[in-house]
Amino acid sequence: MTVRVPAKVNLQLAVGPPRDDGYHPLVTVFHAVSLNDEVTVRPAAKMVLAVTGEDAALVPTDRSNLAWRAASALAKAAGVRGTEAAVRIEIRKRIPVAAGLAGGSADAAATLVACNELWQAGLSQRELAEVAASLGSDVPFSLMGGTVVGRGRGEQLTPALAAGSYHWALAFGLSGLSTAEVYATFDRLRAARSATGASAPTEPSLSTELMTALRSGDPARVGPLLTNDLQPAALSLQPDLRRTLAEGREHGALGAIVSGSGPTCAFLARDAAHARELAVLLTGAGVCRAAARASGPVPGATVLRDMRS
Ligand code: C5P
Repeated sequence: MTVRVPAKVNLQLAVGPPRDDGYHPLVTVFHAVSLNDEVTVRPAAKMVLAVTGEDAALVPTDRSNLAWRAASALAKAAGVRGTEAAVRIEIRKRIPVAAGLAGGSADAAATLVACNELWQAGLSQRELAEVAASLGSDVPFSLMGGTVVGRGRGEQLTPALAAGSYHWALAFGLSGLSTAEVYATFDRLRAARSATGASAPTEPSLSTELMTALRSGDPARVGPLLTNDLQPAALSLQPDLRRTLAEGREHGALGAIVSGSGPTCAFLARDAAHARELAVLLTGAGVCRAAARASGPVPGATVLRDMRS
């Protein structure tokens, strides 16, 4: 059973002060883009995880991998026990690791869908989303795809009314960033700002301007409205990203933003040809490890092949 699953960028990421459980309340606009991982699950004598492709050496192949935990969580939720619950999980990665593109969450979501099919467990989308939320904040979105507003810690989803499709150049960083470290830096920066008497932290809210622009389907209107509260934290951890963002803007990107917790930079292009041009220029300028183009929105985790048939 093979499932394809997309990366995401955040068109808006508004972050509030940390809750008692340490998580930050978010209002975010998730947007799934056509940079995909593929996850295949097969029955096996015991749990095995194998990873190939982009950054494969950086991905753990034991229980600490979210995809492994996804298979275990689904087996539990579906009442699948013993050797029947053992699977071989193969992840073909194109989404870079620790990049702010929700690659780990994507693989977990794909594993949930693949195991649900393989075991014919029959969990509904809503039940799968519940298991997904127990695994990580971005996993429910990776199941759903599209353009979606996320609240809570990112797991409460409502589809957004967005028209048209958007073309992106994605510039991958030279090294990864830890999401937890970026949030901790965000807290430090905000504390330092309030100590100087600057405005107190407020609850995050959805940008109505961005939502209106998304309904118009016009990338020229959407570009200037892209925002990410985590961007200053990502830039303070990797100052060179400023150059990456500036390079894209110089070449006519309609919007230039750090994706999620970074370090991937996402550039909104005028059209597919401009996205390709931006990707080539960014790679050539030496401001990133590599760049790719992608478009969105695309669907979430989708069954590609059922090898049993
Ligand atoms: O939920 P997930 O495991 O993907 O989150 C990874 C880390 O990111 C958390 O341990 C937490 O430090 C941080 N985080 C947060 N607030 C969120 C989402 C993630 O502080 N809404």
